[in-house]
Amino acid sequence: MTQTTVDAPAKDRARIPARTLRTDRWWSYPLTTFIVFTAWVIYATVRSMMGSSFWVEKYHYLTPFYSPCVSKACPADAADFGRFVPDHLPFFIPYALISLPFLLGFRLTCYYYRKAYYRSFWLTPSACAVPDKSPVRKTPGRYSGETRFPLILQNAHRYFWVIAALISIVNTWDAINAFHGEDGGFGIGLGTIILWVNVILLWGYTLSCHSCRHVMGGRLKSFSKHPVRYWLWTQISRLNTRHGQFALITLGTLALTDAYVALVAHGSFSDLRLFN
Ligand code: FES
Repeated sequence: MTQTTVDAPAKDRARIPARTLRTDRWWSYPLTTFIVFTAWVIYATVRSMMGSSFWVEKYHYLTPFYSPCVSKACPADAADFGRFVPDHLPFFIPYALISLPFLLGFRLTCYYYRKAYYRSFWLTPSACAVPDKSPVRKTPGRYSGETRFPLILQNAHRYFWVIAALISIVNTWDAINAFHGEDGGFGIGLGTIILWVNVILLWGYTLSCHSCRHVMGGRLKSFSKHPVRYWLWTQISRLNTRHGQFALITLGTLALTDAYVALVAHGSFSDLRLFN
């Protein structure tokens, strides 16, 4: 029996006039993903470039879209990592310019997001048993997957992971700072809780990464000789089964956290205070 592969020339495939024989709603996943991702990217781009409503002085709430805040335009208390970037840069340079490009690279090269945007934006393919739209994939011999430039750059994911882990530490520091009361002492508000929920889920996303799993237990010939790494690998493997959920949920918590900080900073409503 002849086996048909993705790269097989069209003449080797069964000749079916219909575009696909699938009758279920296979298009709902790529369409929903396209709408959600597009809306998120527009929101995140606008917010990162606004240059306002990113910091609540009274409670030390800093939105993750501006962390670490390293522009000379950042308030002193929001800039724990220094203010070394001039404040007269073009509007499209965000205040958190040392973290956002790496976080973007981290998400763009994530296995989960690759699957999502290959299906939803590039339509290569949109779903199983639905033909590709890409002219490259349709041309026999031209498709090289992720083995050549530019898609071989997806292999940089493991390096983006290291930087993303460092940025998660910065986000954790921001959440610790959010235990700030009106009188300058200890305090807790709804914003503190939102920042903590967001950072815990960000850690869930970062630690459940496939690269993290490989760092913990990859290239080991004998688990019994490395019990600590084996234990870590086991825990990360459990988290890893939920990586796609963490990827999606953290998109939501990032936007919600930013929106909450922005509305409180703007004065649209007051923070709900639980203590001081
Ligand atoms: Fe998704 Fe690494 S595979 S963050």
